[in-house]
Amino acid sequence: MQSLNRSRTQSRANRSLSLGGMDFAEPKKKNNFVGKILLTAVLTALCILMLKQSPNFNTPSVFSHHEEGVTHLLVTGGAGYIGSHAALRLLKDSYRVTIVDNLSRGNLGAVKVLQELFPEPGRLQFIYADLGDAKAVNRIFSENAFDAVMHFAAVAYVGESTLDPLKYYHNITSNTLVVLEAMASHNVKTLIYSSTCATYGEPEKMPITEETPQIPINPYGKAKKMAEDIILDFHKNSNMAVMILRYFNVIGSDPEGRLGEAPRPELREHGRISGACFDAARGIISGLKVRGTDYKTADGTCIRDYIDVTDLVDAHVKALEKAKPGNVGIYNVGTGRGRSVKEFVEACKKATEVSIKVDFLERRPGDYAEVLADPTKILHELNWTARYTDLQESLKVAWRWQKSHLNGYGPVLVSSI
Ligand SMILES: NC(=O)c1ccc[n+]([C@@H]2O[C@H](COP(=O)([O-])OP(=O)(O)OC[C@H]3O[C@@H](n4cnc5c(N)ncnc54)[C@H](O)[C@@H]3O)[C@@H](O)[C@H]2O)c1
Repeated sequence: MQSLNRSRTQSRANRSLSLGGMDFAEPKKKNNFVGKILLTAVLTALCILMLKQSPNFNTPSVFSHHEEGVTHLLVTGGAGYIGSHAALRLLKDSYRVTIVDNLSRGNLGAVKVLQELFPEPGRLQFIYADLGDAKAVNRIFSENAFDAVMHFAAVAYVGESTLDPLKYYHNITSNTLVVLEAMASHNVKTLIYSSTCATYGEPEKMPITEETPQIPINPYGKAKKMAEDIILDFHKNSNMAVMILRYFNVIGSDPEGRLGEAPRPELREHGRISGACFDAARGIISGLKVRGTDYKTADGTCIRDYIDVTDLVDAHVKALEKAKPGNVGIYNVGTGRGRSVKEFVEACKKATEVSIKVDFLERRPGDYAEVLADPTKILHELNWTARYTDLQESLKVAWRWQKSHLNGYGPVLVSSI
């Protein structure tokens, strides 16, 4: 945001300098002074005239004031995988949405899809900004009347977090503090926070309930846990409505094929199992490597809880609807059903109809045998339950998008798959 403004200011400054230089030579000092005043007056009058003719003059943006019956959501990270799906659902449900994203990981293409679907004024705006820039964030809050915030923006790869921990503490913990401070000083009363099962670390008892002790084992999980703690401490003396959602492994994409998951190619190596499965099916990687076949599970491979993104965004909407001033809700968002890596690979082969090569290797240090949500609390309190629980079907939907978007949100490439 700042750099755009700076370049505009600079070019204006350059123009006025060259005009002055041409018209007023050094020796005629007095004339020079009167002339400058005249020139300034003429330019000011011209500017006022131009501004008055501009359609935006005197008509503040609809995003800048609260409107009866309209809930305005700030969706941070709305150009990313989950944030864009959430924005789509919110827009469909008639919310007003402002997406703030620095596009470090997300895709402007996803925002364009949303803009084409909801072109009416006052529905969706996109603001390019970095949440680490507190001044920019404050300006956004002072220029927009938000009713609630869904804070998705984050770097979100466990492997990367172990290689570059400071990036994670800065981007997740410190940026959440910036968002929270802006909410507090601009009186925005509802926060839905994206957290993760990685905050639990390696619990001994499965399934994981919200009471399971949080002992994260990697910087990603620790940064999210710290962000949660900051939110909870702040909440003790505030009337904010807070919902913290701890997601398990997110898969799938929009069943109508409008959005998908398109991480940066350079992040593939840190990527998630569904991304690896599609890359293998496309031949981008030679096959899948299953690490560890001697865990104490039915087929020896790790067990995870996969939650479809459509169900996940539904949990956000329910959380938003049930958020109450002064209350905090903390919920696991998972299916409660574990799938082994072997099961996942088989589902992936069927969904893509590609016979993916699979190598079975030694365990990877740090992986734990089983991670499983107990979603009882969210069912009882928010009346939410996962509906898209057919793993193969979720992968099929996501594969359809992948196949027709070989270049992600970039220019269309012809498929040979
Ligand atoms: N994908 C999963 O399986 C999963 C699981 C648990 C929790 N989560 C959480 O869900 C949220 C969304 O994850 P995702 O999978 O959609 O990731 P993503 O990378 O697709 O989206 C994150 C978005 O945040 C934006 N962003 C990052 N840093 C920013 C900054 N400083 N300023 C502005 N924008 C910034 C990125 O550009 C991107 O668009 C994250 O908070 C993540 O920790 C994801």
